[in-house]
Amino acid sequence: MYTLAIIKPDAVKSAKTGKIIAHLEEAGFVIRAARMVRLTRAEAEAFYEVHRERGFFRSLVEFMTSGPCCPMVLEHEDAVRYLREVIGATDPAEAAPGTIRKLYAESKERNAIHASDSEENAAREIRFFFTEAELKRLWADRLG
Ligand code: CMP
Repeated sequence: MYTLAIIKPDAVKSAKTGKIIAHLEEAGFVIRAARMVRLTRAEAEAFYEVHRERGFFRSLVEFMTSGPCCPMVLEHEDAVRYLREVIGATDPAEAAPGTIRKLYAESKERNAIHASDSEENAAREIRFFFTEAELKRLWADRLG
C-alpha cells in the first residue's frame, strides 16, 4: 500500500530533509519515488483545495510556495495510517515523543511534513506529483 508524504519548505530550508528521509526508512517505509519541487501558487491552492475556506488557507499557500519541498511516494503495509502515526499530530506541541513533527516541526503550520489522510486522498495526491508511467518505470526492471 502507498501513501504520499511531502517534506515541507520549513524542513528543507533548515536542512532536515536527510534526517526525515532516514527516519522514514528506519520506520520501514520504502521510498518508491521522490523529487524536489517548488510549488506554484495555483498548484498549492489546488493541492489544499479542501482547506480553501479555512482561516489559515492564504498563509498555508504562502508557506508551501516559499521554497522547495520534497514529495515522496512511500510504501508500507497500512501505509496511510502508519505514516500518520510516524509523523505525529499536526501541532508539534501535541505530537507524541519520537514522531517526526515532535522532532522537526516549528509550528502547527510549519510542521515539517505532510501525509495523506485517507486511501482516496493518497491516490489523488500521488497523481498530483507523479505519473503512473514514471512510477511503473522506476521499479520495472529492478535488481533483486
Ligand atoms: P497538512 O497535514 O499538510 O494539512 C493541512 C495543513 O494546514 C497542515 O498540515 C498544516 O500545515 C496547516 N494547518 C492545519 N491547521 C492549521 C492551523 N490551525 N493553523 C495554521 N496551519 C494549519
